[in-house]
Amino acid sequence: MIIKEAEFVISSDDVGKCPKTKLPEYAFIGRSNVGKSSLINMLTGHNFLAKVSGKPGKTRLINHFLINKEWYMVDLPGYGFAHASKTDKEKWELFIRKYLAQRENLYCIFVLIDSRHEPQKIDLEFMQWLGENEIPFVIVFTKTDKLKKMKLSGFMQEYADKLMEYWEQIPEMFVSSSETGAGREEILAFIERVNKM
Ligand code: GTP
Ligand code: MG
Repeated sequence: MIIKEAEFVISSDDVGKCPKTKLPEYAFIGRSNVGKSSLINMLTGHNFLAKVSGKPGKTRLINHFLINKEWYMVDLPGYGFAHASKTDKEKWELFIRKYLAQRENLYCIFVLIDSRHEPQKIDLEFMQWLGENEIPFVIVFTKTDKLKKMKLSGFMQEYADKLMEYWEQIPEMFVSSSETGAGREEILAFIERVNKM
């Protein structure tokens, strides 16, 4: 797929304030600092579309980007931010889970996982919750430029094995690097396929 146009539309703090639309929507989620905003910039080829920071907790709202006037990418705040206050965490829970559960045009969620860390409880529990709520998702392993190829394939196998403890079937998996552009074609081809379904 060729991205001809990518424009910021709106930041919302409630699902009720998100754009009223029937266009397909894809949301990017995962731990704080995992690289959600960077991945959106890499996929769109627009370096400053989504705000990126070395400090976790940068993205605070539900951010809609309209792609080719045909579908949306949505940048979400991360979970598991160690320095967030309890009320912040509870607020995240409420408004993000509400968005994920209620947004009718949400076709698929990309759950981002840092490829340098072994399976984390918080990610596994989050995916469990998605499954229980019948919210379709795929996995993207991020920051793979920081790993050697051999190590990456071992990591993916380990992750798949872990998921098999919980699921009969494991979701589709992608590898990505916002530094090298790895995964861009595969992820965009996936979106194109789902858009046509
Ligand atoms: P929050 O909005 O805080 O939840 O974070 P985020 O998941 O949106 O992460 P963000 O895209 O802001 O990136 C966090 C940090 O990781 C930044 O310093 C990025 O430059 C870096 N980063 C993101 N993706 C990659 C990648 O693929 N490779 C490398 N080496 N660094 C990356
Ligand atoms: Mg972000």
